[in-house]
Amino acid sequence: MREILYLNNDWKYSDNFEDDMILPGYGDSTMEVVRIPHTVAVTPFNYFDDRIYQKVSCYRKSFNAEQSWKGKRIKLCFMGAAHEANVFFNGQLLGTHSSGYTSFSFDITDRIRFDGPNCLVVKLDSRESLNVPPFGFVVDYMTYGGIYRDVLIELTDKTYIEDSFVYTTVPAVYNASEDAKEIAPKAVGSFINAKIKISGDIKGCTLKHYLKRVSGVMPGGEKDEYENRVLMAETSANETNDFSYHTLPVCVWDVTNPALYDYEIELVKDEKIIDSKTERFGFRSARFVADGFYLNGRKLKIRGLNRHQSYPYVGYAMPSSMQVEDARILKEELGVNAVRCSHYPQSQDFINECDRIGLLVFMEFPGWQHIGDEAWKEQAIVNEKEMIIQYRNHPSIIIWGVRINESADDDEFYKKTNEVAHELDPSRQTGGVKASGKMHTFEDVYTYNDFSFEGTKNGCQKKKAVTPDMNKGYLVTEYNGHMYPTKSFDDENHRKEHAIRHVKVMDAIAGEHDIAGGFGWCMFDYNTHKDFGSGDRICYHGVMDMFRNPKMAAFAYGMQQDEENVLEISSSMDIGEHPAGIREDIWIFTNADSVKMYKNNLFIKEYKREDTPFKNLKHGPILVDDFVGDQLYENEKFSKGMADAVKRALNIAATSGMGKLGFRDYITGAKLLTLYKMSVKDVVDMYQKYIGDWGGKATSFKFEAIKDGKVVKTLVKETVSDVRLETIVSSEKLYEGRTYDVASIRIRAVDQNGNVLPYFNECVKAKTEGAIELIGPKTIPLRGGMAGLYVKTRRRQGSKGKLHLKLEASEKIKKDIEFTVMEGEGRNV
Ligand code: GAL
Repeated sequence: MREILYLNNDWKYSDNFEDDMILPGYGDSTMEVVRIPHTVAVTPFNYFDDRIYQKVSCYRKSFNAEQSWKGKRIKLCFMGAAHEANVFFNGQLLGTHSSGYTSFSFDITDRIRFDGPNCLVVKLDSRESLNVPPFGFVVDYMTYGGIYRDVLIELTDKTYIEDSFVYTTVPAVYNASEDAKEIAPKAVGSFINAKIKISGDIKGCTLKHYLKRVSGVMPGGEKDEYENRVLMAETSANETNDFSYHTLPVCVWDVTNPALYDYEIELVKDEKIIDSKTERFGFRSARFVADGFYLNGRKLKIRGLNRHQSYPYVGYAMPSSMQVEDARILKEELGVNAVRCSHYPQSQDFINECDRIGLLVFMEFPGWQHIGDEAWKEQAIVNEKEMIIQYRNHPSIIIWGVRINESADDDEFYKKTNEVAHELDPSRQTGGVKASGKMHTFEDVYTYNDFSFEGTKNGCQKKKAVTPDMNKGYLVTEYNGHMYPTKSFDDENHRKEHAIRHVKVMDAIAGEHDIAGGFGWCMFDYNTHKDFGSGDRICYHGVMDMFRNPKMAAFAYGMQQDEENVLEISSSMDIGEHPAGIREDIWIFTNADSVKMYKNNLFIKEYKREDTPFKNLKHGPILVDDFVGDQLYENEKFSKGMADAVKRALNIAATSGMGKLGFRDYITGAKLLTLYKMSVKDVVDMYQKYIGDWGGKATSFKFEAIKDGKVVKTLVKETVSDVRLETIVSSEKLYEGRTYDVASIRIRAVDQNGNVLPYFNECVKAKTEGAIELIGPKTIPLRGGMAGLYVKTRRRQGSKGKLHLKLEASEKIKKDIEFTVMEGEGRNV
């Protein structure tokens, strides 16, 4: 039977390669013992040169074959090695693989030794001078080197299932206008199509196909046929087998109820199961048409973000748990329904999680703006084929990107990439990301990076201004990004503008009935080359920082979902933060029905969801426009009309400054002095009393988010009197399984009310003991009041690990986190 054995531990690594290193033991004493995922260079946080990971390095692993492997077919698989791997086995070259983003394998059945250790060596070239995508010009992201995804051995019978592709034909089960939130799970009879390839001696073989539902809720909570394993069919096997069956009602995979099924194939010979393979998939239909995107018949506006697969210090080298965590953050914290894997295929663990949680995926082959020579293009086609064959069973993937991101037209090349995609996967449409409108289009969907929004005017271009063919679907694949780089330690106005720009584009796209949706650039900041970014080798384009801490713009996304209550205010309410003490616009980011605002515990105003100017979004930010409330009517002896006029003037002065007071307001002022006999000092005192100002008495603002009549979240903004460290740990349970495990710890300096302190830049010192160790430096500064660190498990070092965090400047501010390390895959399956 099929068996997977991971080869992630006990590799020897050298920063350079010598020919003799393909021999066992050569240079052992100078080589470092490492585990996979591995990076060829641990990088600083910023200000580093990409040359530190551009090298030819050597990985060597010695392992013994078990006697039980005899007679089996033995396949060696690399899930990801960046960027060109020459693989040697027992002194001989097995082959070369020239893409850092897809997996590859070699059949080592005839080369394996049973009489002594086997020697596996990888000569890894991670130089950007390679003539393969994405190299050849400049690239706006670092392309870290290393064997950074799992290495494994797959054992099967010599006659085995080589490949299986499952896709479905599902009728439209929802109405076009059904709302994403309210839709109930649906079940419907569908078609399941399978292409199965068998290798070896197929004479007398039979294939058995089973179906089993593994997640999702059946309508009405009923049990369905496929909740248990059900035999679908039995057929005699050929080398290539095409099947199509009609099913009894099955639960459809959707963003709200991502029902997954296992398609299990058994290869039977002489009544013995000689191989079996399981493909996890979903029943769903996903189509881009002229007026938008339809999932299972329902029109769904795609609201997504672009993701790179990089992390501070270790580049691409993070295990499954961190990939899974990114998918969770996208869905739960950022509330998006889609992600674009820019600009290369990303970890299977990440995509598996997208399948599991219902996050739609735009998947594309590697490349960035540049198209190389014929050899380069051939490699691009190989990359494309590998991408489609390796990822085509994932229900979350709704479109293939088959153009080099933002490259020029190349008709012959792109005719070919589209043909390849349609041939290998008849079930999905193609896109190809373009930087200009009206380009040649062999793809099914016009996918375009719309950077037209520069802060004013329209949030996006019209479809007809961009596409040459109105009959095809149209999707915005990037917006914002370099148009407004923003650091978490930028001033408040800048961070707010960044957030509002994201809102404006989202709102504009939501308002265009024929745009399928959009992907913001991008999920988090990333290290980049000298040609881009802020000079420190970081593109500050994220709605989160590199550690996945939220910038203000993250709330603009997070508030679009309804599962978690969101309440955030764009201001700390400190007027000294703003030029001339002018507050300008203050926005409430919430998904609540309404927000009540109090000043020093006095009710001022209830803001309703409908008050937002962003009418196309379900939840749009709401502008704070009243600091006075009913106080003037209650406290002062003004007529109703006069109180209204004074309130208006006070609110204008509070948000926009005296300079913005109009003629009407000056008349009001004159009336106060004449009719109401107030002195100038009285007027100033009144301003201090109701608005509060420079040097005035500290004000406490309270905001209550209300849903279904209940306060669901409260936020208080007042003078900071205490600083605490808040930590968000991805998981305190870690697993030593196929390799080491990692937990992310996001750290924030917060005040007594839990508000992040954006200018708190002190250092945190971290110390570990027991079963965990730190990734990266031991002392880290907070940036924008936030930081992050990663701990990884240590092999065979017990089951308890402790992380001690302490603020360098104040011994009092500290925190301990305890981790339990267990054996097994745990959640990482
Ligand atoms: C796009 C490109 C992205 C990123 C972005 C920055 O042109 O596709 O990779 O560089 O600009 O806004």
